[in-house]
Amino acid sequence: MSQHARGARLRRVPIITALCLLVSPAFAADSIEDKAQICAGCHGEKGIPQAKTTPVIWGQNEGYLYIELRDFKSGNRKNDQMAAVVADLSKDDLKALAAHFTKLSWPNLQQPSAPNDVASNAQSIIGSVGCTACHLDQFQGDGTTARLAGQQREYLQKTMTDFRDRTRANNPGMSDLLNAVAPANIAPLAQYLSGLQITGATNGQ
Ligand code: HEC
Ligand code: HEC
Repeated sequence: MSQHARGARLRRVPIITALCLLVSPAFAADSIEDKAQICAGCHGEKGIPQAKTTPVIWGQNEGYLYIELRDFKSGNRKNDQMAAVVADLSKDDLKALAAHFTKLSWPNLQQPSAPNDVASNAQSIIGSVGCTACHLDQFQGDGTTARLAGQQREYLQKTMTDFRDRTRANNPGMSDLLNAVAPANIAPLAQYLSGLQITGATNGQ
């Protein structure tokens, strides 16, 4: 229902509406916390996603969360599950959801640090491409740049592959950068990034 239609209906039945607010839990389905319940079905009740290829969103950077929700809605980033989720949400809902999830603690997925040989290979690729210029020293990201440290390994591998072949086309710059990385090096990068922890983080590990 549009804001306008809802406003019109509310004006017509103010007393019933007020009663509903008092007695009906169903009416509260409009609050952002209730909308966020839908997300828990896949992104996890405690921030640990159900499937390995579903990303952590708890504690992710606010600007980045909003941009992705916006891009799923516009179709710039294609994913059938997320497209269905955002179809009926307004821009204000997307902003409120981003503000809600950024405040929650990033979960510890207990992913092991990469072994030395994998880590040194990953670090040399990271150094040559200059990933930390944007994702920052601990891969914590900032604003509209994603946090990568401690993200799900399988998701990182999938989304970097999607960037490379432009299945994920919402940031052509990231696609270009990852096309400078050999396909065989995507898995070691995902393994390395997934095993990183952030020291002194304010939101979670
Ligand atoms: C039916 C399962 C499902 C539900 C429900 C769901 N998501 Fe997702 N979400 C996914 C999957 C799967 C992806 C990864 C898509 C891809 O691979 O591109 C994703 C990706 C995202 C991303 C991008 C994260 C990143 O690191 O790029 C955000 C943000 C997001 N979801 C937010 C939400 C919010 C907010 C809700 C609730 C309003 C929600 N999701 C509900 C399955 C779901
Ligand atoms: C010029 C800045 C810049 C550089 C350099 C850069 N990135 Fe990114 N990266 C971004 C931005 C901005 C995003 C968010 C894209 C979007 O809006 O979807 C992103 C997104 C990502 C994502 C998706 C995160 C998610 O949750 O879905 C991954 C993975 C990633 N970058 C890996 C890397 C790696 C690995 C390197 C180095 C090889 C790198 N990036 C270099 C700016 C950069």
